[in-house]
Amino acid sequence: MSRYKNVMDKRQEILLKSAGVDYSKYEEGIVSFNYEKMMKDIGYGLNEVREIQKKAGVGNTPLIELKNITELARKISKTGKAARILVKDESCNPSGSFKDRRAALSVYDAKIKGYKGVASATSGNYGAAVASQAAMQGVKCIIVQECFDSKEIGQPEILEKGRKCECYGAEVIKLTVGPELFFTFLELLEETGYYNASLYSMYGIAGIETLGYEIAEQCREYYGKDPRAVVVTHAGGGNVTGTARGLIKAGSFETDVIGASVDLTGLHMASDKDFNKKSFTTGHTGFGVPFIINPDRSDVPRSAARPLRYLDRYVTVSQGEVFYMTELLAQLEGLERGPAGNTSLAAAFVLSQEYEDEDIIVVQETEYTGAGKHLMPQLTFAKNNNIKIQIGNPEEEIPGESIILPSHPSKCRIKEINMLDLKASYLKNIVLKLRGRKLMSEDLKYLCDETKLVEDEIIRILIEYGY
Ligand SMILES: Cc1ncc(COP(=O)(O)O)c(C=O)c1O
Repeated sequence: MSRYKNVMDKRQEILLKSAGVDYSKYEEGIVSFNYEKMMKDIGYGLNEVREIQKKAGVGNTPLIELKNITELARKISKTGKAARILVKDESCNPSGSFKDRRAALSVYDAKIKGYKGVASATSGNYGAAVASQAAMQGVKCIIVQECFDSKEIGQPEILEKGRKCECYGAEVIKLTVGPELFFTFLELLEETGYYNASLYSMYGIAGIETLGYEIAEQCREYYGKDPRAVVVTHAGGGNVTGTARGLIKAGSFETDVIGASVDLTGLHMASDKDFNKKSFTTGHTGFGVPFIINPDRSDVPRSAARPLRYLDRYVTVSQGEVFYMTELLAQLEGLERGPAGNTSLAAAFVLSQEYEDEDIIVVQETEYTGAGKHLMPQLTFAKNNNIKIQIGNPEEEIPGESIILPSHPSKCRIKEINMLDLKASYLKNIVLKLRGRKLMSEDLKYLCDETKLVEDEIIRILIEYGY
């Protein structure tokens, strides 16, 4: 039997052993599972999670008002009005991003369950976060990264992240783009017996709830009210899910949760040719859309990241607009921060103009910047990959061909993604999963929770797709 087949055949068994959770007990109906029961089973309440994070130096980050950017938004707004823009400075966490909130809880859980080490498959900030928490909490750590195209050329941001993981003492396994990532990760879990510190486990999501909770708490303390909207950079869906759940736990029911991603339409994430044509390695539509319409495409049997349950709106911005906002944040506010957080800032700058002056819109994160994350190495890398760098109208940007920095702040736009279309695509995937079987009553209730649609609407869409 080939090594590949041998490992893939044992996939469920390996995932179960490395997660320390029996996911089968949550299964119900044909396609449904008991999401809230799964989330409850982490066994810690929000206050305990906060304590665990506090001991690991995580959370309690500042909420900063961006007065100059708000003023600029009001200057260019058609009505002359714009909400106050605030940013939650998550770069103050130990490894420089909100991912420390996820990692702190996962590494803690690994330790409690007696695992010798933790492993994670990620090319992003999460690797650095797990490596940092593993160093702090005294467990071993291996990170598997998809780093290079087939010519062994690496995206500057991913290479930098590899160095960051190594500096925290983790072993980093660097791969070329392709399907071997999952196989390599499974084989590693089996060989080492390490804990799978998945981004998508219930611990990975519960860790972010504190972020949403802190936003509500700080807005009430400083401004005496809840934010009208929180803008969240979206990729795999954990950020949206955890933040929204935290807001709900704080009783912030009227706050809109708006996802924002960089528009990378047309670039294929698993393509060797496209791998180095993107200037953003997370918070983009190449992850954002697939994870909304099929949240269980992850490295755990049931993902705790369920963005469709929580998103009120989903908007996109262009690469050029995010680079431009990165400069604005540095030059107008004195905050030099990284690309992913500035994705939601670029969207918030435009969205703020839909609200009144007394309203509050929160950009839910910043991330650190430096080395490969900075816009200079990114733009140089893009130029070397034959991407045209221009100044003009960002609406004309074509991902993989051009990056257009806005010639004026009024040229910044958002593109609205139709939520009903996303819900329909999600339901189309459900029809495929059903393979001719009939839905049970639990399934219908579950689909209502997953999509925030009523039963009749769900049935109508399912029938449209052949149910
Ligand atoms: C700084 C930062 N912001 C946002 C995201 C998106 O989070 P999620 O994948 O949970 O949607 C990531 C994930 O890679 C990130 O590192």
